[in-house]
Amino acid sequence: MSSSTPEETAPYGAPAGTPAPAGSATIKRIRTHHLREMKQRGERFSMLTSYDQLTAQIFDEAGIEILLVGDSASNNVLGNTTSLPVTVDELIPLTRAVSRSVTRALVVGDLPFGSYQASPEQGYLTAARFMKEGGAHCVKLEGGVEMAPQIERMTRGGIPVMAHIGFTPQSEHTLGGYRVQGRGDTADRVLRDALAVQDAGAFSVVMEMVPGDVAAEVTAKLEIPTIGIGAGNRCDGQVLVWQDAFGLRTGKMPRFVKQYADLRTVLLDAARSYDAEVKDGSFPAPEHTF
Ligand code: KIV
Repeated sequence: MSSSTPEETAPYGAPAGTPAPAGSATIKRIRTHHLREMKQRGERFSMLTSYDQLTAQIFDEAGIEILLVGDSASNNVLGNTTSLPVTVDELIPLTRAVSRSVTRALVVGDLPFGSYQASPEQGYLTAARFMKEGGAHCVKLEGGVEMAPQIERMTRGGIPVMAHIGFTPQSEHTLGGYRVQGRGDTADRVLRDALAVQDAGAFSVVMEMVPGDVAAEVTAKLEIPTIGIGAGNRCDGQVLVWQDAFGLRTGKMPRFVKQYADLRTVLLDAARSYDAEVKDGSFPAPEHTF
């Protein structure tokens, strides 16, 4: 499919009259085919998690191509320690908040643990809820070869699927904890999973905690775009959990996280200033008073 349909010609966020730059900045609404075209052009794209209206608006304005309403909401929004407990009913309202708040980004609804593994039918019905009730543009699920029937069923039923292979957090207890996948002899497994999800119809694949050279080989062999998280810089795109990347969460971070801001300190200082001014009576001042 061509990337020059009428909805895509105006430069994104540029003042009127600005000549259209090459690349994704010219795309008014990101569709799955744009990501494949970007891969073909050797152009990288970015993805962040988002779970609410205001971050969705900010990241969309920043030009992030994909927003993932991740099951990581479980341990970044809902107070759990892992992604396992979050439910479909908890994630759908967050997905709806994000999909209502973007004008350009592709919104991915993340299927939580237990909501698709039982059968392709179960997976299809869950994914359909994310599309209908959450307004997601596509869904993500974890797994490779064993998830091919689910991916085929969803794709056949009109639901674009992003797969997730390598380290898959929902299988933490099967995989024996947070460990790099695909080292040594197990590199073939990552490639087999990647080819299986591509053949089943996935439009893209996340690779988590995979050695950089393995991820580079998979990226070169696949026609669909790869998105790395702890998989080196030779994937077609990258994803991070926003609270990690922008420093709202602190403490021990996986090696693959780069911290671009220190929002925790900004918020902590602001909350302390507010608290102090309330207690010393300097807020509200006359200008805040009717
Ligand atoms: O839920 C999530 O945040 C994810 C990313 C780690 C890719 O699946």
